[in-house]
Amino acid sequence: MNRIIAPSILSADFNNLGTDIEMINRSEAGFIHFDVMDGVFVPNISFGIPVIEHVNKIARKPLDVHLMIINPDPLIGSFVKAGASIITVHYEACSHLHRTIQHIKNFGVKASVCLNPHTPVAALEDIIAELDMVLLMSVNPGFGGQVFIENTYKKVRQLKSLVEKNNPDCLIEVDGGVNYETGKKLFDSGANVLVAGSFIFKSNNPEETIQNLKIL
Ligand code: DX5
Ligand code: ZN
Repeated sequence: MNRIIAPSILSADFNNLGTDIEMINRSEAGFIHFDVMDGVFVPNISFGIPVIEHVNKIARKPLDVHLMIINPDPLIGSFVKAGASIITVHYEACSHLHRTIQHIKNFGVKASVCLNPHTPVAALEDIIAELDMVLLMSVNPGFGGQVFIENTYKKVRQLKSLVEKNNPDCLIEVDGGVNYETGKKLFDSGANVLVAGSFIFKSNNPEETIQNLKIL
């Protein structure tokens, strides 16, 4: 399965967001990753639908929307209307996850579930067949620039086995603390999609960094 780099705009320059989106458009990135935070499910507030709507006007890559919010169901339609191609909800934020996944898929977009570092991969056994992607958090959600949690490699291997048995087309995405070292080990462990924010946007040449991440 091909390797995808998903730059997280959480670390972009919001005073020049259009410039950063044009860079991603030119780059070998496969997705644009949006970290939406509500200040309740995670201890931070980031941005929401207006930002995604505006980026969607100039974006030439699929919008990969990571909802770190409680009770996402009522807002799914608005995120789809804003331009989301993939919507990720948190396992820990959904009391009726199967219904939420069906709700997302009914809009004709891809449905994904995210697991926080403490949530075991086995929690997905009875829903993995319904998913287009699984996002594994390799940091505690809420902030960019955090230290990578080493246990994530084991979870990627476990998820790879679950996917191979139940849903071989399901993508494995990892988010948090991705750099050249962790990224290579993640690809080697079975991840297909790497989300990177600070490592890309704080580098001297973000477009080159994206290209280098892709060929790790
Ligand atoms: C955490 C965010 C971050 C972000 C990537 O809630 O989801 O993981 O996307 O951050 P970096 O790549 O800077 O660790
Ligand atoms: Zn994210």
